[in-house]
Amino acid sequence: MNDNDEKLLDHEYDGIRELDNDLPRWWVWMFYITIIWAVGYYLYYHTLGIGYTSHEMYQSEIDPGWVRESGEAPKYFGILPEYRSPLAATEAEKAALLRASGVRRLVPMNRESDTTTYVLSMDDATISAGKSIYQVRCASCHGPAGQGGVGPNLTDNYWLHGAEPSDLVKTVRYGVPTKGMISWLGTLKQEEILQVVSYVTTLHGTNPPNPKAPEGELYSQ
Ligand code: HEC
Repeated sequence: MNDNDEKLLDHEYDGIRELDNDLPRWWVWMFYITIIWAVGYYLYYHTLGIGYTSHEMYQSEIDPGWVRESGEAPKYFGILPEYRSPLAATEAEKAALLRASGVRRLVPMNRESDTTTYVLSMDDATISAGKSIYQVRCASCHGPAGQGGVGPNLTDNYWLHGAEPSDLVKTVRYGVPTKGMISWLGTLKQEEILQVVSYVTTLHGTNPPNPKAPEGELYSQ
């Protein structure tokens, strides 16, 4: 009788027999540790409410001003808090998320919510930087002299989306995607957007050859 005979169990399936081997000690200890861990985890996060649950972490991330209401946390004993997917965030939560998530996204992401008044600098360095950007990025559609092409004439008194510097900046920032003018937010830095718009304002009234017919509303000269 060798070692294996003692461990041999008395069942057999299709000639396959089973040995009753002990699990490795290290494995069993890992298993006990997970049980002990689970008890501590449950007390820490749920019963005593010392740690933030994932739901509460989410709350505190989307709203830095969020504090757990006293008495709210340890109320559940065995009942998990209702889980809400971040995708189901309300508008208010999304707004808080935007506020919380750093400078880049402090910028409102659509034209309607952007109430900023953009101020252009009109010094030579800015305008010549803007001109370079214009030639690379914009001339293909608006013409090398702003006379228009696929895009509207930028030299006349007619504007589709407003004639104020801030209106122009917003058109370039957010684009008019449905009409073939992309948003340049992802391609140009804010500084570059301001530069190119500074340059565009210098095109006004330059009467280039082959102008595209006016589009939009007449603004004062
Ligand atoms: C792929 C073609 C294309 C490119 C490239 C392009 N635009 Fe446009 N742009 C358009 C079109 C088309 C419109 C008109 C949108 C509409 O009909 O509402 C427009 C509109 C505009 C307007 C508003 C005009 C108005 O009448 O209100 C401005 C300002 C403008 N573009 C500036 C720029 C600048 C600056 C660049 C380069 C950074 C640029 N565009 C690049 C196609 C383009």
